[in-house]
Amino acid sequence: MQVKIEKLDHYGRGITKIENKICFVENALPQELVEIKIIKETKKYFLATTIKIIKESKDRIKPICPYYNTCGGCNIDHISFEKENEYKEIKITEILEKFAKIPNNKIKNIIYDNPYNYRNKIILHQNNKKIGLYKKGTHDIIEIESCYLLNNNLNNELKNIKQVNDNGIVLRIGNKTKEILNSSANKHKIISYIGNKKYQVSEKSFFQINSVITEKLYNEIKEIINTSKSENVLDLYCGTGTIGIYISDIVNKVLGIESCKEAIEDANYNKKLNNTKNCTYKLGKVENLTKEITKEYDTAIIDPPRSGLDKRVVEKLLEIKPKTLIYVSCDPVTLARDLNLLQQKYDIEYIRPYNMFPRTYHVESVCLLNLR
Ligand SMILES: C[S@@+](CC[C@H](N)C(=O)[O-])C[C@H]1O[C@@H](n2cnc3c(N)ncnc32)[C@H](O)[C@@H]1O
Repeated sequence: MQVKIEKLDHYGRGITKIENKICFVENALPQELVEIKIIKETKKYFLATTIKIIKESKDRIKPICPYYNTCGGCNIDHISFEKENEYKEIKITEILEKFAKIPNNKIKNIIYDNPYNYRNKIILHQNNKKIGLYKKGTHDIIEIESCYLLNNNLNNELKNIKQVNDNGIVLRIGNKTKEILNSSANKHKIISYIGNKKYQVSEKSFFQINSVITEKLYNEIKEIINTSKSENVLDLYCGTGTIGIYISDIVNKVLGIESCKEAIEDANYNKKLNNTKNCTYKLGKVENLTKEITKEYDTAIIDPPRSGLDKRVVEKLLEIKPKTLIYVSCDPVTLARDLNLLQQKYDIEYIRPYNMFPRTYHVESVCLLNLR
């Protein structure tokens, strides 16, 4: 059947209506007339794929990746990069408006950089002697020669991978040093730079995968800390200590809390590496260490995983009331949920999207909240 696509959903799929029921159409863009095939029907929606594009959008481009429709790593490689950035601004605006009643004038322009070769990390898997990435939604392997999202030095390294253990293999590159971490070859120490700070990142620790955008994001956080004259800062979900160390020169002290043991070991190593004297780290879940969140902290930087904040953490923040909250989020839906609660005592100054993950539907953002 033929349908006209109205808009994109939050996963980069086209949306139309069939018999008054919503239909999500893969590989279709707003204003396009497409021929579709229904692949699933539930009580609430249809799911369809595009068979033929009858009238093409001016925003459509030819995907550059030969694995695009099988791999699943990218979702919007058929949209121009300009339109992608606009889509991500709209996505954040709509989600925050819908779930947290935040007006659209609070959303600032998106920050972006190069759409390709930005990833400093890849995980490869092996199945039946094939080494590569998982095919979309399966554990079947798609063998790849290179990945357009990946740093080119890592693309060169792919050729040398001949075997992968059961858990897969992690390759990571240090952005300035070009050192490569290869989890199967016992090459485990690499150093990455953000601005003039150095960070050791080991295999199991979190580290932002787009170093260029990360530096821009951290500079914005530093600017906020500077303007709000923050002194004692909580770095919640601190990973390898990256943000706290980045701003440590302009504050009195930082307390980082993180649940991954290797990341805390890295954080303690990183503070020495940068000759930082005013950062302390605690291992544990933030929700179990709320006693550490005390009134002496005037600022909290909060950078949780996609699941967002545990209620106990929100309650504690509302109780001790730091004057400034800087919430870094990789999921606007959980951000909206948490802002809904934090708005009891905080005003949202602004939210700025960052295109940390080009060619995918994911979007990072930073939100500044001031105590009312
Ligand atoms: C999005 S990352 C941010 C890391 C760091 N701020 C950075 O920018 O590199 C989220 C971090 O939270 C940690 N984490 C996940 N759940 C946690 C919890 N309940 N309590 C403390 N840390 C947690 C993860 O291990 C990860 O390092």
